[in-house]
Amino acid sequence: MDKILVHGGGKLSGTVRISGSKNSALPILAAALLTKERCVIRGVPDLSDIHYMLTILSSLGCEVERASGTVSIKAEKIRTEAPYELVRKMRASVCVLGPLLGREHEACVSLPGGCVIGDRPIDLHLRGFAALGAAVRVQGGNVKLFASALRGNTVNMRGTHGTTVLGTDNVIMAAVLADGITEIRDAAEEPEVVDLANFLNSMGAKITGAGTSHLTIEGVKELHGTDYTVIPDRIEAGTMLVAGAIAGGKLTVDHVRPDHLAAIIGPLRDSGFHLETSARSVTISPNGATKPLHLETSPYPGFPTDMQAQMCALLVRAPGVSVVTDRVFPQRFMHVAELTRMGAQIKLSQPTAVITGNGHLSGAPVMASDLRASAALLLAGLQAEGVTEINRVYHIDRGYEHIDEKLNDLGAHIERVQA
Ligand code: EPU
Repeated sequence: MDKILVHGGGKLSGTVRISGSKNSALPILAAALLTKERCVIRGVPDLSDIHYMLTILSSLGCEVERASGTVSIKAEKIRTEAPYELVRKMRASVCVLGPLLGREHEACVSLPGGCVIGDRPIDLHLRGFAALGAAVRVQGGNVKLFASALRGNTVNMRGTHGTTVLGTDNVIMAAVLADGITEIRDAAEEPEVVDLANFLNSMGAKITGAGTSHLTIEGVKELHGTDYTVIPDRIEAGTMLVAGAIAGGKLTVDHVRPDHLAAIIGPLRDSGFHLETSARSVTISPNGATKPLHLETSPYPGFPTDMQAQMCALLVRAPGVSVVTDRVFPQRFMHVAELTRMGAQIKLSQPTAVITGNGHLSGAPVMASDLRASAALLLAGLQAEGVTEINRVYHIDRGYEHIDEKLNDLGAHIERVQA
């Protein structure tokens, strides 16, 4: 298994180009199941999660071609069963349920298993499918959906932890070909949901209100092929900005949507950094000492849970006390024990981490537990004295395209060692 060695102390500066969004690309690729015609999807990052999704689509009968960041999918004849061996590798594989139900009125997809960042149920997805008229059964570890017809309805996406991103995506994908009008209330407002809606509208769907909590979908008879480019990855951009905060220098993230980054730029400014935006880029530079923060994650446009671990890696160096709360995924603190092994002072009482910044970390062997926790360890390694050895780096390859190479181009000293 590959390891990453981060030699701490390198100063980062320069410009990094941000890749296409993983969390946009995954449901958009699945949405290509909704038409028999060819869909060309551009800006698809080279990540293992994307590879899993393309493998699932091939197993469902799609013709899939890929050349660098462009994926072409033709779903002329499809099957409706996705087996456990493929699905278990990635939770986002649940987003084939919506399009299979929408197009074929049936689906049998294995339920993804446990997840290190929390329970991650799909009850809200299933409630939405049922509201559209599907019979829903969970049997033998599979979700089975069947409908003689799908009819538009009012669907509420709110659960005990707030709304759901992939649940909103799934209901949209099931509703675009349904009879009549579907109203989604308490919909997720994430830019990735807007991107999916834009993709589907480019195929002939009639979706309005994406980006607000109230979506309307007027069902159409069929969808056609399209050529579409996914939005830049706001979490990769945010992670790179935190790298700049930790080890910059003046660092620019390019090919981004600054409006999608407001909830990350705000806390970085509050923490004492200077941030400048232009139409397509954001630049961070130092502006005195790092200040502690009180941060709480919430759905978009709030501070994203997908940036929580990376901000913890920054705040361990901010003199004073920072308080970081994650109610979206209250158990998403696997990075805390590893950061503590590097010398951070963090008291955890889920869903809150209280960080006493001491400004000093030392390199240590650490274990990546999930995607964003791995990014936090990489960021911690940049500021640590000595070498940080990150094991189980396959987690980082699920969601960051060539992150070690990109950081090295900015001045970091990171080695990937094949074991
Ligand atoms: N939830 C329910 N029932 C459901 C669905 C969700 O209770 O049916 C709860 C979850 O347990 C959680 C909250 O609702 O407490 C929000 O979860 P959500 O459904 O929004 O998460 P998701 O759609 O499964 C996507 C991203 C995650 C990101 C979350 C939150 C993709 C592929 N994944 O997951 O990204 O953390 O939204 O923004 O888009 C990552 O990229 O590292 C990642 C985990």
